Amino acid sequence: MAETFYMTTPLYYVNAPPHLGGAYTTIVCDTIARYKRMMGFDVRFLTGTDEHGQKIQRSAREQGIAPKSLADRVHAQYEDLWRSYGIRNDLWIRTTEERHYRAVQEIYRRVRENGFIYKDEYRGWYCVSCEAYAPGSGGDTPAPCPDCGRETEWFSEESYFFKLSEFQDRLLAHYRDHPDFIRPETRRNEVVSFVEGGLRDLSISRKTLEWGVPLPDDAEHVFYVWFDALTGYISGLGFASDTDRFEKYWPADAHVVGKDILRFHAVYWPAFLMAADVPAPKSIVSHGWWLFKDEKMSKSRGNVFSPALLRDVIGVETLRYFLLREMVFGQDCNLSIASIVERSNSDLANGLGNLLSRTVAMVGKYRDGVVPAPGRADGDADVRDTAARVIADYVANFDAYRFSRALENVWELIARVNKYIVENQPWAIARKQEEAPRLDSVLFHCSEALRLTAALLAPVMPETARAVWTQLGLEGDVADVRLDGLAWSESPMAGRRLAGGDVLFPRVDAKAVYAKLEAELAASAPPEAELAPTIGIDDFAKVDLRTATVIEAEPVPGADKLLRLVLDLGFETRQVLAGIAKYYAPETLVGRKVVVVANLQPRRMRGLESNGMVVAASVGPDDTPVLVGFDQDVPDGARLR
Ligand code: MSP
Repeated sequence: MAETFYMTTPLYYVNAPPHLGGAYTTIVCDTIARYKRMMGFDVRFLTGTDEHGQKIQRSAREQGIAPKSLADRVHAQYEDLWRSYGIRNDLWIRTTEERHYRAVQEIYRRVRENGFIYKDEYRGWYCVSCEAYAPGSGGDTPAPCPDCGRETEWFSEESYFFKLSEFQDRLLAHYRDHPDFIRPETRRNEVVSFVEGGLRDLSISRKTLEWGVPLPDDAEHVFYVWFDALTGYISGLGFASDTDRFEKYWPADAHVVGKDILRFHAVYWPAFLMAADVPAPKSIVSHGWWLFKDEKMSKSRGNVFSPALLRDVIGVETLRYFLLREMVFGQDCNLSIASIVERSNSDLANGLGNLLSRTVAMVGKYRDGVVPAPGRADGDADVRDTAARVIADYVANFDAYRFSRALENVWELIARVNKYIVENQPWAIARKQEEAPRLDSVLFHCSEALRLTAALLAPVMPETARAVWTQLGLEGDVADVRLDGLAWSESPMAGRRLAGGDVLFPRVDAKAVYAKLEAELAASAPPEAELAPTIGIDDFAKVDLRTATVIEAEPVPGADKLLRLVLDLGFETRQVLAGIAKYYAPETLVGRKVVVVANLQPRRMRGLESNGMVVAASVGPDDTPVLVGFDQDVPDGARLR
């Protein structure tokens, strides 16, 4: 039976869809899941949404909607985003699901029965953005948030406490006995010193908050959102709902998280589980932050890139490659569009794309599209040795979460083969009959190296791997190749007809990317937030808005923005000039219903009188006018109020 591997992303807050920094955690997990499947593991990969707590309740209130409606909307946006990024999770948990409520209450019951809960009064400072308590809760002076440094809010209320302080020794022993529990090593030291510094009991319930899972024995309280959300890792697997699956895959092999939420995962979570007699996860794998100009990307700083925007401008495969290649896992990394373009052109277009198109072209030209058997192989051993070393290094690096090194390994092979082509000059030896066995060997080596490359790329760039596989004329799905058995071999490439296809990565021009980004950003700019000064209903009543039908429409000579319209208001017809000529062809307007400010002072433009103003929404940075419409027929002259 295959070894199991259970891995999770964090459960994302549903106040808004993620920025690129946030999406990184899930992209990394998807890559690991694909790699583990190709290594023969029986993988379960969970992602989900963290839908309760003060942060969500407050966001929903600000938007004037129920928290569940906000959660539904943003959850759907997550689903779309993950699908478009090729994320193939097996499991999904929303913390508003009934099976999750059951799991949270069950864990709590066990913790309480084991004697780790007591009731007291919480008095202290709290960061709503991180949903975190700020220690140093003296009273008068707000303690800054220990995680993000933001200002915190005071609260004091009756609360149930978890005896976290009793777990200091057990946690330290756990870290000592399981050296791989916190990855990478540097992060482990941070956590150990935090716990050595002493642990305070943790308030795990809130009385003044409505939006959460109620305590089973005191429904006036809801759970602290981290107690609730962390339990998602087991409720989503089947704890308290699908015991067989839970028992098969728990404990989790890896919870992958950003360093900002490591403490919750490496301290609180194992302590909750120990207190409930549930085994702790095997490892917490923590990555660094994506920065923009050396500052953490975060919504509150407004320096974020939208993953949907970058997907549309740059493409998912290039982004997945960039994110995994550029960031040294565990460390922070700056994101710049210039470096994305640079990697796209050098690594993808020149390196990989070029090797594939050259190979397909040469096999086409010299061997009618069929890859020959190796022939006379002198001087090729180095290519085969490089391939063998690259595969071994790649696996070692992937297993140690060194994705950027693993990708460097793949590009060592690509670079070696590109160089090998130059060394062997196939275009020159093709002219000499006696060199035919040599040429066979060169063409075979290029093709086989590409087959191995496609398999090695599949976890990171699944669609690109598939495209290379198809161009090589290989059957089946590259994702089904076993990486643990991957090795240089004469079959299946010898004798294979290459299918060829489109250029994988056309070179991109940085200027064109910037222009496209700016255009997309401008188009998605939020509407103006500042409202005009408040008016009374009497002021509004002074504006006489009427429905009308356009009966004539024509350009105004000499004015490229204006149209002359004749409008039927039911009780009269009148001429109105409208600045919509760039956006509406006159003939499309005749017969159309519009709304007009009917009591506006007449004014003359270009020698013509305008008797009123047609109303339109003003959209985007160029204030594109969009005419008002009705969802059913209305008579002319009806007043809008
Ligand atoms: N809801 C909690 C997690 C609960 S898990 C039981 C949460 N959600 S989050 O939406 O704020 O964060 C999701 C992921 O995005 C986390 O792994 C977080 O570390 C990551 N990132 C957010 N900003 C980031 C960067 N700028 N760079 C890299 N990852 C960062 O936390």
